[in-house]
Amino acid sequence: MKILAIIGSPRGMLGNTGRLLDEVLAGVRETGAETEIISLKTLDVQPCVACDVCHKTGICNIKDDYESIKEKLLACDGFILASPNYIFSVTAQMKALFDRCNGLIHCMALEGKYAAVVETSGGGEDAEVVTYMGRFVNTLGANSVGGIGSPMAGIRTFPDETNLYAKAQNLGRELCGAVAGQRKFPEQEEFISGFSARMSGLVGYMKEYWPFEREYWDKKHP
Ligand SMILES: Cc1cc2nc3c(=O)[nH]c(=O)nc-3n(C[C@H](O)[C@H](O)[C@H](O)COP(=O)(O)O)c2cc1C
Repeated sequence: MKILAIIGSPRGMLGNTGRLLDEVLAGVRETGAETEIISLKTLDVQPCVACDVCHKTGICNIKDDYESIKEKLLACDGFILASPNYIFSVTAQMKALFDRCNGLIHCMALEGKYAAVVETSGGGEDAEVVTYMGRFVNTLGANSVGGIGSPMAGIRTFPDETNLYAKAQNLGRELCGAVAGQRKFPEQEEFISGFSARMSGLVGYMKEYWPFEREYWDKKHP
């Protein structure tokens, strides 16, 4: 089983989010799963330019590291998204990746995969950002097994660390358990199926312009 972790902190794995992600990954590794960490800090993922080429061809026209991240997302069994809270949302690095995933979202191409999300903050709105990242996971067609968020209590320290790290490790184990058991998340089904109807409708009325996505949906729902 392959679990891919993507971290959007400009501090990479050396900051607070990396510290919390380490605990989630410890839970993942306990199950025997293979892990890979992608730190957006070290990669070039430029903002989407809305050229629509991905919708037409399935490949982004910007020559940077996005396509290789996309291939890793398509190849993994489960993934983890980790970001600090930057003004009630994710970092610009992570948001650039989310936007570049627009083609994957239109196709809901990560259906059948599972994800977990990790967030840290200076002092609050953790749930808001965790919920936002979880909704992003669902728009890709994947199920979210849950998320963990915490305010910091200093450099790479958190309040109630024993409890927090136990929960983080459990989240990692849960992610692998969901992949292994192909767990269903009925509470996410309404959103995912509604979004799926919306995306297939969108691609349907844009079919002349977006042939790649039309063919993708034709194959998905012949
Ligand atoms: C540009 C910027 C914006 C931030 N915005 C918020 C915020 O809106 N709310 C908050 O609680 N913390 C905010 N923080 C604090 C970070 O979320 C927090 O320190 C986090 O743990 C940093 O994670 P890292 O060490 O992995 O980068 C902000 C920090 C920066 C640099």
